[in-house]
Amino acid sequence: MKPMCGFVAVLAITLAAPAVAQDAGAQAFGMCKACHTIDKGGRNGVGPNLSGLFGRKAGSVAGFNYSSAMKTSGIVWDEKTLADFLASPAKKVPGTKMPISVSDPAKRAALVAYLKTATVK
Ligand code: HEC
Repeated sequence: MKPMCGFVAVLAITLAAPAVAQDAGAQAFGMCKACHTIDKGGRNGVGPNLSGLFGRKAGSVAGFNYSSAMKTSGIVWDEKTLADFLASPAKKVPGTKMPISVSDPAKRAALVAYLKTATVK
């Protein structure tokens, strides 16, 4: 006896849905992109490249023409100094050339969290 064995393989391909949760921080960075690159070795634009931001002294990217206010601010970028600066650049660094602020605290917190990881790439 030779049993006829038919094997039907059904291959179901399920594509994992991307995380539904929006990355609010990455989205908020959209308004910074006009002036800043964030990738390592990225060019300076209207604003300096932001790669390696955390732990770096303010005003220290080579080749970028900072305001003297930024260069002499004595700031070292961390969560706190960055949040303060983004809340009101002109208050944190009077005389800075950076013209925009992020006034919404939730948006600012998400943005700082995003920058913390995105600037180490
Ligand atoms: C219209 C252009 C522009 C936009 C938009 C902008 N920036 Fe800037 N940014 C600048 C300029 C110009 C400087 C340099 C300021 C100075 O020298 O006083 C700067 C400086 C900075 C610095 C200090 C960097 C360093 O090397 O010390 C940080 C941090 C920063 N910006 C973050 C942001 C973030 C985050 C956003 C988005 C919310 C943003 N910027 C949006 C123009 C911009």
